[in-house]
Amino acid sequence: MKDTPIPFEIVEKQIELMNLSSVGKASIREIKRLVDNIEQATGQKYIRMEMGIPGLAPCQIGVDAEVAALKEGVAAIYPDIDGIKPLKNEISRFVKLFMNTEVNPGGCIPTVGSMQGSFAAFTTLVRMYKERDTILFIDPGFPVHKQQCKVLGIPVESFDVYNYRGEKLRKKLEEHLSKGNIAGLLYSNPNNPSWICFTETELKIIGELANKYNVVVMEDLAYFAMDFRRDVSKPGEPPFQSSVTQYTDNYVLFISSSKVFSYAGQRIGMMVVSDHLFNTKAPDLLRYYGSDSFGRAMIFGTVYALSSGTSHSAQYALAAMLKAINDGEYDFISVVKEYGEKAKIMKKMFLDNGFKLVYDKDEDEPIADGFYFTISYPGFSGEELIEKLVYYGISAISLAITGSERMEGLRACVSLISRDQFPDLEYRLKKFHEHHG
Ligand SMILES: Cc1ncc(COP(=O)(O)O)c(C=O)c1O
Repeated sequence: MKDTPIPFEIVEKQIELMNLSSVGKASIREIKRLVDNIEQATGQKYIRMEMGIPGLAPCQIGVDAEVAALKEGVAAIYPDIDGIKPLKNEISRFVKLFMNTEVNPGGCIPTVGSMQGSFAAFTTLVRMYKERDTILFIDPGFPVHKQQCKVLGIPVESFDVYNYRGEKLRKKLEEHLSKGNIAGLLYSNPNNPSWICFTETELKIIGELANKYNVVVMEDLAYFAMDFRRDVSKPGEPPFQSSVTQYTDNYVLFISSSKVFSYAGQRIGMMVVSDHLFNTKAPDLLRYYGSDSFGRAMIFGTVYALSSGTSHSAQYALAAMLKAINDGEYDFISVVKEYGEKAKIMKKMFLDNGFKLVYDKDEDEPIADGFYFTISYPGFSGEELIEKLVYYGISAISLAITGSERMEGLRACVSLISRDQFPDLEYRLKKFHEHHG
């Protein structure tokens, strides 16, 4: 028993009361509950890094537009399944101005969070060609995507990209894609949980192989523009958000508004289907849909069946936010930059106290500072480390649930930590290092 920052006996008792066989193996929600309970019992605030939720106020332009739309009565009216026209136009403009990518507004579809976009894409993609029934994940990744495949009964393959960065990615991807069973592959960029970002070399490899093997790339841009090493804030001017769209025309993009606009509660995201894929005809689709065209099957088959479109008022919110951004009147990136600045300070505190970054490089460049980072402490597995850190008032999640093979690693999310907690974090990490170093 040690002089831990949070009283040892109270933490132990709360763990016992939760009846957890191991804190390290607990789910994100269980850890959240445990920490809630300890905070209540001790009156002490944790450094809560377990949940990946926005820590900023929602974008006011969106809120105002949504309130105005509701007052005008849109709540009574079904929106078009594939989105209201002004929103589709602004999504198309956004992709052009910030990604240098041309997509017809027809393929720009609002969805109920980007999670519905991925659900719809998985559903439709594995029905295009009889022999292509499997989704490939470039891990680590967001566990809910695999859960979506599981509930859909879709087989998955995956690998941890840790050992396959740069040119090594080509051989590894070919191993999977050359078998002919992969309908689509998915990764997030910047990556949840590791915050690695693919380099242009890697995106080019992914694009080239997607072309070679006719596999659709699903690029999840939930943290759009948050690789703060590159300032992509000027509409229509380089640099742009890095993307596979520069190397293939066989893609679906998911652009969430949850983190970039702090709009998670309204559950609105964007699915952007390339013109090429939108117009692709695949006769096998007729087994499930009234059309053999991917775009029509997606909209009038899958999205219609799922929710018949997306909340009408939230579409006005998103349209207004995007219009202000596209017109150069609102710099959304300067708002979320705070995440990167906090990460830089917090990472240093961990590193100064004996911790290591698990995913630390994009090829030879140090990874960006952003929403997440990954940590380990020599001599501990991820599970053991979570278990220990709870006594020091720090919570995080294990990388094991993300498809990472780095069993020593934890994911830390910076969003909910306020700067006035930094002295606490520093003190607690020092104590931890003192006790375990
Ligand atoms: C990689 C990734 N994709 C998708 C999502 C979900 O986005 P949305 O809230 O738009 O459904 C998240 C949210 O944490 C995420 O981290």
